[in-house]
Amino acid sequence: MTKEKVLVIGASGQIGVELTLALRKIYGNANVVASDLREENELLKGSGPYVSLDVMNKEMLHVQVIRQNITQIYLLAAILSATGEKNPNLAWHLNMQGLLNVLDIAREEKLHKVYWPSSIAVFGPTSPRKDCPQRTIIEPSTVYGISKYAGEFWCNYFFERYGVDVRSIRYPGLISYKSAPGGGTTDYAIEIFHEALESGSYKCFLKEDTYLPMMYMPDAIRATIELMEAPAANLTVRTSYNVAALSFSPKEIGEAIRRHLPAFTIQYDPDYRQHIADSWPQSIDDSVARAEWGWKPEYDLTRMTAEMLDNLK
Ligand code: NAD
Ligand code: SER
Repeated sequence: MTKEKVLVIGASGQIGVELTLALRKIYGNANVVASDLREENELLKGSGPYVSLDVMNKEMLHVQVIRQNITQIYLLAAILSATGEKNPNLAWHLNMQGLLNVLDIAREEKLHKVYWPSSIAVFGPTSPRKDCPQRTIIEPSTVYGISKYAGEFWCNYFFERYGVDVRSIRYPGLISYKSAPGGGTTDYAIEIFHEALESGSYKCFLKEDTYLPMMYMPDAIRATIELMEAPAANLTVRTSYNVAALSFSPKEIGEAIRRHLPAFTIQYDPDYRQHIADSWPQSIDDSVARAEWGWKPEYDLTRMTAEMLDNLK
């Protein structure tokens, strides 16, 4: 078996930190190179190689891939939904050009595999609100969603035309405690835990009955690794797979927290992110991922809430 050498781009971000540590367990610390525009995350320090890298600088990226004998890239650098609406040009530029740089290099260097996440943000107001299927009407209304949907088709194009083995998941909102979130609409479901423990109350930027698809980070990391390890012949989706775990509203997560912290209170003060949330489905049908590579979530709201509070304490 050829030795794999992995490059994670955007390794200091919310997913990057945990995914890098998980990949290091699989491939060995020295064989997973973490990289980011910003400084190395504290949790990564001492666990393996780190390089400072801008995914927009294709030449430097190419040099690193050759110099480090990279065989797989996990591309996590992106601008998320809420930050994207503040700077649409920047979001489009980074989310598109970063992906195209990676796909081009993967083709030229014949990399074994590429991972690039999409999002439930590809769905828009005309998509089904409940149990949104893998294949359906997709008319995204945020620049983030537009960039993810276009990115999905670039992945499919590079697979069909050049045989690049690129795989993707449409993550729901991800909830974690190890590293901070990067500017998404679903970030309220992380902030709420920090505020519950620090001040005993939280002012939510979404309305109490806003249901969104969510997932606890250990499930997301496992989904990513399971998809990347699945036999290529099993995979019929080369745009991006729906995956699902949880669907809850701010009111429901507030109640789950109150079972541990009875004095916790929550107020609602919706802002521009409400409009983004209202354009997304409330829940996702992931039957294709379940059938093709055996996806199954492990965490429900109760178990996730207990673990988040325990770890943040
Ligand atoms: P994040 O913002 O926490 O991390 C992104 C990282 O990329 C940051 O550390 C940032 O410094 C780095 N970065 C930014 N520009 C860069 C550049 N030019 N070159 C190199 N690095 C750069 O984001 P995340 O939440 O970890 O998301 C990772 C991926 O997963 C993104 O594609 C995102 O769209 C997708 N996703 C995330 C969620 C979620 O809930 N977190 C949900 C769906 C999809
Ligand atoms: N969590 C992400 C966001 O809110 C979904 O892609 O932007």
